[in-house]
Amino acid sequence: MLQNPHMNQVSETETSPQQRARDLLEQMTLDEKIGQLCQVNGGAHDLHDAVREGRIGSVLNEVHVDEVNELQRLAVEESRLGIPLLIGRDVIHGFKTIFPIPLGQAATWDRDAVRLGARIAATEAASSGVNWTFAPMIDITRDPRWGRIAESLGEDPVLCGELGAAMVQGFQGESLDNVHAIAACAKHFAGYGAVEGGLDYSTANIPEGELRNTYLPSFKAALDAGAVTFMASFSDLNGVPASGNEFLMKQVLREEWGFEGFVVSDWESIKELTVHGFAENDTHAALEAATAGVDMEMASTLYRDHLPELIESGRFNIEQLDAMVFNILKVKFELGLFEHAYTNPHDYPALVNEAHLKAARDTAAKSCVLLKNDNRVLPLDRGQLNSMTVIGPLADDGYEQLGTWIFDGESRHSRTCLQAIYDMVGDSVQVHWAPAMANSRCRDGGGFDEAIEAARQSDVAVMFLGEESILSGEAHCRAEIDLPGDQEKLVHAVAETGTPIVLVVLAGRPLTLGNIIDRVSAVLYAWHPGTMGGPAIADLLFGEESPSGKLPVTFPRMVGQIPIYYSRKNTGRPPSHDSITHIDDIDGKAPQTSLGMSAFHLDAGFTPQFHFGYGLSYTEFSYRDMVLSDHRVALGGSLRLSATVENTGEVAADEVVQLYIRDLVGNVTRPVKELKGFQRIHLAPGESRDVVFELHTDDLAFYDRRMERITEPGQFHAWIGSSSDPELWAEFEVTAE
Ligand code: GLC
Repeated sequence: MLQNPHMNQVSETETSPQQRARDLLEQMTLDEKIGQLCQVNGGAHDLHDAVREGRIGSVLNEVHVDEVNELQRLAVEESRLGIPLLIGRDVIHGFKTIFPIPLGQAATWDRDAVRLGARIAATEAASSGVNWTFAPMIDITRDPRWGRIAESLGEDPVLCGELGAAMVQGFQGESLDNVHAIAACAKHFAGYGAVEGGLDYSTANIPEGELRNTYLPSFKAALDAGAVTFMASFSDLNGVPASGNEFLMKQVLREEWGFEGFVVSDWESIKELTVHGFAENDTHAALEAATAGVDMEMASTLYRDHLPELIESGRFNIEQLDAMVFNILKVKFELGLFEHAYTNPHDYPALVNEAHLKAARDTAAKSCVLLKNDNRVLPLDRGQLNSMTVIGPLADDGYEQLGTWIFDGESRHSRTCLQAIYDMVGDSVQVHWAPAMANSRCRDGGGFDEAIEAARQSDVAVMFLGEESILSGEAHCRAEIDLPGDQEKLVHAVAETGTPIVLVVLAGRPLTLGNIIDRVSAVLYAWHPGTMGGPAIADLLFGEESPSGKLPVTFPRMVGQIPIYYSRKNTGRPPSHDSITHIDDIDGKAPQTSLGMSAFHLDAGFTPQFHFGYGLSYTEFSYRDMVLSDHRVALGGSLRLSATVENTGEVAADEVVQLYIRDLVGNVTRPVKELKGFQRIHLAPGESRDVVFELHTDDLAFYDRRMERITEPGQFHAWIGSSSDPELWAEFEVTAE
């Protein structure tokens, strides 16, 4: 029995994963131990020999089930100890059935829909032999210039934490050793979403208090939901790259949070420690990463090449190595790989089956956010409409609607918006189709005339504009975030016809729409909606369903406002509408004064284009009678906050009811609002419901200037409403006892 201080000493039975991992570890040679730390890409040179000789513990990016089964056979039946492989893949928002990009899924504010999407992705991926996904990506980000905002769950710790936890539950299922379960991976730990300038791979400087109050909670939520792996980020956090960051990987993750799974590096992120200038050579990089607590190395081979000498020289001790191997073996036992290493595709439902497609359609519909709907131009009435024009390159592109990070999705399964509109209207409405541009970046104006003429002859023009998937995702950042190419010109040109415009935006980030927002009657923001994006959007356009999405991220008016987010600090000079000066209103030689001035931009003011949590519906909801179970609550207690929500309109619809609080005074400054709860409800016309939130004083805790997590007695405000500009307000006090 190994007594290793680095291993979690828990009482266990003979057959527990911990005990089995310990027993196996005792039999392993040094090379076999180091082999478990190595993850290589599918198809790598001499992969089969390496597996047979126990030099590999995991393979990523191999999804051909016959090859996966052969690799597992080599590991289980030909290697000396028969240790199965972890087979990793980026199953980020679907495997074959592609769901909306995570930012779109976040716009559903629907834990169940997000969990179901991950569950379907897991079972489809598992049918190809994948037993580990590099998801959920739960980096908080407030910078839409960053391409990976597409992959995130938005700007808020609570929304991201709750939905990230739902993804973990979906991927890992009820029991991790079930053949339909795949291990989740909380990434990218940590602070990656705060990279400077929205530049991928860049530096993140985050004071520890802000790190703990904003950027770490979603990872803690994923851990609490049972995530068995974490991934270290590429980025440099406060001067220490995550892949060599002992504060993150040891102090926070192991000592404070009690994490018992394992940490994998990002792609060659250990080797990049030398590029960062954090390690002087590969040997040093391997030592830094292993010492910091990164258990498995993805793609690069520094552990394989340098750990032997580091052990030999005593610079890295065998107990530390054993702890790394133990963490990985334990997860393999928990996954049941020693019982079922091989995959029989017949044990799984068909890929892209009707049930999966329906779930993808439902989630896509819930993800769309109605941002504008003047004169109720939406929903379109097939009975009244004689003709319509569909304009824009993204209306009929089954690949682009899938979004970023789809390794295994196939556009042949996609139902495009144009197809869905044809299916929806049949012969009842004459549909013109005018792409107008070859792609979103075009600047040749070649196809404008046809689109303009078609719009002139139509009752409505539905324009599908935005970004192709290649303009978002890893390493695809933009310094401007307006509609690319000549799309704005196209909007203005079509608007000149006088035909009302419905704008449907397909994009992987918030875009700045200020230049054209006044030229369109309606805006439906559909993100990249996935395989079933077309039918989902058509359902919304023609009123089969009401839009119900809410923004998971703030939309700036201008890129220069970034970072802009709802849970800002009040500052000593908070702006107000009557306190700001617009650049156009500055006359002549206005005297230079800061008196009476506040925190705003002369050319943008201080408010966003659209605020966090915002989204319209085809019906109206009224909010009334906010009631608190008490207006005083002692530390350690809880209170209930409720409001009556009524559907006062004509159609049934979902509403996402949101709870926000404000801690008026803290020993560090506190945000002007913080989301603390949300519930998606469905109400028929005329129906009302009391929506109740339970708030414990621990939900109000924050890390203070002493870096202690506390809830301070004092005055609080609370709001319940339809967005972060909520309808109802109340106040309560937290007392010391
Ligand atoms: C990528 C990403 C990471 C992904 C990994 C494997 O570079 O940063 O999110 O899981 O490599 O593809």
